[in-house]
Amino acid sequence: MDSTARTVSVNRVDGRLKVTGAARYAADQPAEGIAHGYLLLSTVARGSIRALDVTAAEASPGVLAVYTPFRPLELLGSGTPFSVGHSWLPLQDAEVHYHGQAIGLVVAETFEQARDAAALVRADYETRPAAVSFPDGIPGATDPGPIIGEPARLEFLADGVGSIDEALAASEVTVSGSYGQPGKHHSAMEPHACVATWQDGALTLHTGTQSASLTVGAMAAALGVGTAQVRVVSPHVGGGFGNKVATWAHPLLAAAAARALGRPVKVVLTREQTFTITGNRSAVRQTVTLGARRDGTLVAVKHQVWSSQSASGGIFESSAHTTSRYLYRTENLHLDQKIVTLDVPPPTWMRAPGQESGSFALESALDELATELRMDPVELRLRNYATVYPGRNVPWSSKHLDRCYRIGAERFGWARRNPVPGAVVRGEWLVGMGMATANYPGERFPASVQVRFRADGDVTVSSATADLGTGMWTVLAVLGAEALGLPVARIRSELGDSTLAANIGSFGSASTASTGPAVTAAAEAATTELITLAVTDERSPLYGVPAGDVRYERGELVAPDRRVAFGDLLRTVGSEGVEATGSSAPGPEHGQHAFTSFGAHFCEVRVNRWTGEPRLSRITTVVDGGTIINAKTARSQIIGAVVFGIGHALLEGAVVEPESGRIANGTFADYLLPVNADVPPVDVHFLNEPDLLFNPLGARGIGELGTVGVAAAIGNAVYNATGRRIRELPITLDRLLD
Ligand code: MOS
Repeated sequence: MDSTARTVSVNRVDGRLKVTGAARYAADQPAEGIAHGYLLLSTVARGSIRALDVTAAEASPGVLAVYTPFRPLELLGSGTPFSVGHSWLPLQDAEVHYHGQAIGLVVAETFEQARDAAALVRADYETRPAAVSFPDGIPGATDPGPIIGEPARLEFLADGVGSIDEALAASEVTVSGSYGQPGKHHSAMEPHACVATWQDGALTLHTGTQSASLTVGAMAAALGVGTAQVRVVSPHVGGGFGNKVATWAHPLLAAAAARALGRPVKVVLTREQTFTITGNRSAVRQTVTLGARRDGTLVAVKHQVWSSQSASGGIFESSAHTTSRYLYRTENLHLDQKIVTLDVPPPTWMRAPGQESGSFALESALDELATELRMDPVELRLRNYATVYPGRNVPWSSKHLDRCYRIGAERFGWARRNPVPGAVVRGEWLVGMGMATANYPGERFPASVQVRFRADGDVTVSSATADLGTGMWTVLAVLGAEALGLPVARIRSELGDSTLAANIGSFGSASTASTGPAVTAAAEAATTELITLAVTDERSPLYGVPAGDVRYERGELVAPDRRVAFGDLLRTVGSEGVEATGSSAPGPEHGQHAFTSFGAHFCEVRVNRWTGEPRLSRITTVVDGGTIINAKTARSQIIGAVVFGIGHALLEGAVVEPESGRIANGTFADYLLPVNADVPPVDVHFLNEPDLLFNPLGARGIGELGTVGVAAAIGNAVYNATGRRIRELPITLDRLLD
């Protein structure tokens, strides 16, 4: 592989399947004799179930079984498997941990029969007082323990400085703000679904998952079978964003019910059920206090975070440790993360977990500091540019964030920004410009890939990774084609099946960076196998040629006096194919550098003078993510992430009812998401600078990066437009009118 950045731009190889409806998602999977399960959900936030009256449900047409804590499906109750999204297994006891928890499964001949019967079940609860209000819980917040290997309360002070507050007090200029955001939901277009089928003691589970292998582990442990008895199939996933990594109640119950009934069982969650069954993003409150010299040099950064967490486990937003920790150079740094444990559905990973919320606070605070200093926000960021990872003596492997700022400013026309808030009026609109930084760590996991030369002249490139709409189908084809010197059309990608070459799956923006180098390794290994076959099989035209005299070149084996296409060779020797597996993993370089993808957003908003309505006019995003493998799907990734950020900035937020703990807006009628009319033209530019210290492709992740900083860029533009600093998300018109 040559080391200069090169980018192709090809259509999605799975695109035709998707637009013609031929792509089969989990819920589309047919099975002989299939039965349909419908989850029963709790209607109180905390307590225990005294009784569930299932008489009418059982008598309802088509009903096969009603499973409850009193008539449980067998799951191993002790030691919840890693990668189940909460700390307990469903239906193994009568405890209710939050409103909307799975407390039963009705199985019937049809979905409608199961749903109708579920409505007939009557629950009697012994309720206990529940803590569901995030603000109310903040005074009792606790220390969550280490975050990314560092203490939750982390402090670096310059020599002679006694405390962060002392450093702030001694600063020439300080700004401080408290920033809030509600809990949020992933809202993938494909609701969670599964089809569980047992045969001869082995389970095949079709389910939309980001990690077939983690799902195998969770299912096998809960069902008390070996991992070899579980196969997870997930070729197409209609969006994941982090909540299709963990295993939730529905596949566990579907598989257990299928085993009990001796029939395949399908469970498709309703949209409302996905809001409580499958994870969410913490609600977050943050305080950022910055101290600087008059020339803009940061002296002190204090970033305090309170994130909601569930008594049922899960994760939480680590907002400071993922942003202020390393984004700018400062003499004094103080991070403090706390969690507020509530009787609410468990948070899980959600696109750029930590960075998304943290960047809103930090990048808004920097804008406030720029205002205070009367300094350009880009200039302020360049003034505090970090070239080594703060507190560790390691440089970044490749960091060109300064160019992201400069190129972004140029493309966007930042020089035309009027720094005076409220100064630009067009008709009834106040117009403003804002910018912010994006960051996301470069992650890389061990991965294997199989490359198979086929007798029909095509090549299969396969791995147990996932494509969530992210482009992995196409990335495998592009990299396979490049490694073998073949057109993309001759590569057949295979993924989303736990029986393929080992792969942890798709999360952490690490799929291409992890799996890509393994494609190259597998192509080399398969080529060696092919040459061995060619020189050792008596029927081969290259029989007897020394292996060292044969080389592979663009689909042909070339000897000094002969050449043969691999398809012809395989057919001649009567072989259907030759394959080999190659692997790739991070090496010792991982202690020697910091790996981070960076970017910069520039946006223009307009705020209606009379109604307060905020609208985004345009956005430019410049990305330093290393080598871009396929420009077309990469651009889609960034646009999708920017859309995600627009939701964060302007629209999204769960409303939890204070008494019941119920999510009051858990439907797409009420939980607002950006639609096409909310999304302006997005100008995406990639620096395309290979990061060859990171991996042989030079490619870091870009899947989550693009959402980081979008809300701050928009909020900063709203300030520039109106002079109003909105520190509570989403920025809705009521917050712009008072
Ligand atoms: Mo991502 S939140 O690592 O799926």
